[in-house]
Amino acid sequence: MKNENWLQWNQEKIDSFQEIFLHWYHQEKRNLPWRANTHPYNIWISEIMLQQTRVDTVIGYYYRFMEEFPTIKDLAEADEQKLLKIWEGLGYYSRARNLKVAAQQIMADFGGEFPETPEEISQLKGIGPYTTGAISSISFGLPEPAIDGNIMRVVSRLFEIEEDIAKASSRKVFDAATRAIISHEQPGEMNQAFMDLGSDICNPTAPRCEECPIQQFCLAYQNQRQTEFPVKTKKAKPKDVYYVAGAIENQQNEFLLLQRPETGLLAKMWHFPLQEVSKQEYEELLRTWEKSQENAQLTLDLVAEELAPQIFDELPVVWQKKHYGEITHVFSHLKWHVLLFYGRTRTSFTPEQGRWVPESSFDTYVFPKPQQKLVTQFNKYQKVDKDF
Ligand code: ADE
Repeated sequence: MKNENWLQWNQEKIDSFQEIFLHWYHQEKRNLPWRANTHPYNIWISEIMLQQTRVDTVIGYYYRFMEEFPTIKDLAEADEQKLLKIWEGLGYYSRARNLKVAAQQIMADFGGEFPETPEEISQLKGIGPYTTGAISSISFGLPEPAIDGNIMRVVSRLFEIEEDIAKASSRKVFDAATRAIISHEQPGEMNQAFMDLGSDICNPTAPRCEECPIQQFCLAYQNQRQTEFPVKTKKAKPKDVYYVAGAIENQQNEFLLLQRPETGLLAKMWHFPLQEVSKQEYEELLRTWEKSQENAQLTLDLVAEELAPQIFDELPVVWQKKHYGEITHVFSHLKWHVLLFYGRTRTSFTPEQGRWVPESSFDTYVFPKPQQKLVTQFNKYQKVDKDF
């Protein structure tokens, strides 16, 4: 470790820090639905939702989830499509699938009661060190740190910790520093005080140190080095990937939706037929359409051929002679660019993993975010022109 400035704090300083910080938390804490009680089920669900997602967004999802699955047993027995439907829009869908698996583990291995020790809690599917710490401290009063980006930012400033927070190996440094100062009487409140301070006052780019309750303890503030912490190596830019998608309508005004395989990214979710193309092909498609209609049929044939040929052998599609625009969507390390085409077909062939669905029923299917954007894009165009 480069420095261990928390070791300089004596017990008196630790006590004073805890008193001041907890006093601030009790005065200023945000009123959030999962703070109404400390039942581990509520804390678990909220903490999983709050990973990668903003508090304001989570609140509505949290209420809907609790209404649909009020107990661990309800979650263990959840219909997976219903579960994913409730999760729709939150992204990172493996979180929802893992919740169900963990609920089944609790039913099978712990008699339906949420386990109470960090060792047991961390055995549950989808629960890592952060969530283990949050549940252990908030629900069971154990002095366990809950180390996420917020706490790392606050604690790195507090002690001028130089370790790169992008590295997994730095976690043990933050774990040691936080353990040294966490309250043993109110560990859950202290972890939540860190969360509130980190998401508001001790923010990444312009910390409002004048308002900070623990300013007097903060080394970075004393040395005016706040924005040098946390130390973080740059994330690689998301990789661009390119797709064409087809909204294909049959004579009954139904659209072909395909379901993704059981495993892998966005497993079992529904989407318009989609085909990855090279950047060059994608730009060619965009340009051709922008420039002239002359190459239209040629380009559409190319799209049809690219778009899952096993389907299009059976399903001749007449394409609308222009695309419906593009949408983009960033998954953690990928940036999707999707160009949407509209076409009609006379056949009623249904591919194995597909279903013909009227637009009015789209909302009963679980769509990943890019597909939701495609439907929005599609609706925009449907309203203005329908040439076929
Ligand atoms: N971010 C992560 N967990 C949180 C919590 N329990 N309250 C507020 N913000 C959070």
